Amino acid sequence: MSAATASSLSSETVAPYVRGRFGKPYLYELECESTQLLLLGSGLPEGATAATDHQTGGRGRMGRQWTAPPASSVLVSVMLHPPPERHLPELSLVAALAAAEAVEGATGLTAQIKWPNDVMLNRRKVAGILSELSDGTVVVGIGINVNQTRDELPLDTPTEAGSLRTLTGNSYDRAVLLGSLLFRLERIYDGWRHGGLDDLYGEIGARDFLRGRRITVDGAAATALQILRDGLLEVATDGGDTRAIESGEVLFER
Ligand code: BTN
Repeated sequence: MSAATASSLSSETVAPYVRGRFGKPYLYELECESTQLLLLGSGLPEGATAATDHQTGGRGRMGRQWTAPPASSVLVSVMLHPPPERHLPELSLVAALAAAEAVEGATGLTAQIKWPNDVMLNRRKVAGILSELSDGTVVVGIGINVNQTRDELPLDTPTEAGSLRTLTGNSYDRAVLLGSLLFRLERIYDGWRHGGLDDLYGEIGARDFLRGRRITVDGAAATALQILRDGLLEVATDGGDTRAIESGEVLFER
């Protein structure tokens, strides 16, 4: 790995790549339990960002852990103050779209969104989103697997994990990727803030990983039809019904 790709996510390293209001202020710890905990209940303004090079208690969805070796990945949380009229579960798709675009910008490959909050590259999960609500604010946490080797990736995940490195053979500068992610998240979030998912729907729908796939939703077999304009997942159950799913664990057949 070159010096550039080994560099940290310290304030000095990332500052040249912070172009908008997301990333200000920027809280960095060489190691912490979870970047979510640095922001939850902090009262910091929208766009405040916490990043680290290693989490000792990284949080995933559904009470799972999110693990990555030191200095291998992007581990970041961003404070959001969404307007009350917006439907907060949609933020997972907002963040997933930003992460997908950042991955595409780095690799030149098309990334997909596995509803509601995973980013897929070549059928592997390369990024995950965790949104946590506290006092009307949302802390959105994004983990992107960047420079892990195959044997550094977790094995016990419901969706097989990959990193940008295992899927492209290249290593990436994590500070550049983080700057790109923050810039895209700000733009996409601002669009959602003003108009909801409507204006983003084309970009989300074009990256819909589950569309047409055989899936199970919380254990029940179905076929995924599409992500709907309101962010729900439309499925055709094996019992013959069409349903819109609001949340749940979706597994797909490989
Ligand atoms: C998932 O796919 O289960 C969501 C993973 C979210 C991981 C990120 S890493 C940065 C932030 N801090 C955490 O503890 N979790 C999120």
